[in-house]
Amino acid sequence: KVFDIVVVGSCMTDLVSKAPRLPKAGETIHGHKFFIGFGGKGANQCIQAARLGVKTAMVCKVGKDFFGDNYIQNFKDNGVHTEFVKQSSDAVTGAASITVDDAGENAIVIVAGANMLLGAEELQEALPAISHTKVLVCQLEISPQTSLQAMCMARDNKVKTIFNPAPAIPDLDPDFYRVSDVFCCNESEAELLTGTSVASVEEAHRAGQKLLKRGCGSVIVTLGPQGCVVLKGGEPTLKHVPAPEVTAVDTTGAGDSFIGALAFYMANHPHMPLEEMARRANLVAGVSVREIGTQTSFPYRRDLPNEYFQE
Ligand code: RIB
Ligand code: NA
Repeated sequence: KVFDIVVVGSCMTDLVSKAPRLPKAGETIHGHKFFIGFGGKGANQCIQAARLGVKTAMVCKVGKDFFGDNYIQNFKDNGVHTEFVKQSSDAVTGAASITVDDAGENAIVIVAGANMLLGAEELQEALPAISHTKVLVCQLEISPQTSLQAMCMARDNKVKTIFNPAPAIPDLDPDFYRVSDVFCCNESEAELLTGTSVASVEEAHRAGQKLLKRGCGSVIVTLGPQGCVVLKGGEPTLKHVPAPEVTAVDTTGAGDSFIGALAFYMANHPHMPLEEMARRANLVAGVSVREIGTQTSFPYRRDLPNEYFQE
């Protein structure tokens, strides 16, 4: 295989403000820190995987602007293959306005910009990479049709797929379930997709079963500090994977760190049980919440204990 992991997804410039709490509608409050970082769920996931030591390629679109130029350099600095990172002068690089409160909670507005211009033409160009990777990862910060098409291309070539329906949309095309080897979402996405409350391990298991019945190979529902539940097609037993206890400084992007690490294990340790992959991905994501920012807080292989990388 040419690549271990290909991500077809988004890039965003994160404009982050730290404040004591999230502002209410119509309110102005003082924050105490501002910074600009590299974000976007697709790119975050790709960069976490790359930092764990696999060959990755990103298929995405940024603007022909300062943020876009910088983003391409960021991929290069992280060892991500950039042949399929395209620049367009028809839209600006995606941006995310993020507020993080003192409890590490966040609120985000994204303007997808150039991400929405990624389409069939770019996928066709990237077909040699998509069809020759071990794992393909998609999310929902680009046009859903583009994500679905990429997943179908991967499936046609027997490539394993991870789908992260984030941010969730209520009318998700049912084909997404059928082309997902692993369908991985958080509690609020699971709620939106199933129309049921997902606050406990039990509820997550019930929602996971609903999602599994829609045709995916396996389902993972993440529950933040409560860890995650793992459900496999044909296996009725509930698997709950607890999360490590951590003091969260900033949980933004923790889900992306989890997915990136999960993709790493699927590519590098394909015979490992899915719940063990999820357990280790939880540990990796647990490191990311201890520091502010998304990619700035994602660990490298050298930062992690050796046992995370043993069979
Ligand atoms: O998942 C975190 C990401 O969501 C941030 O980096 C931000 O860009 C938004 O897309
Ligand atoms: Na973080």
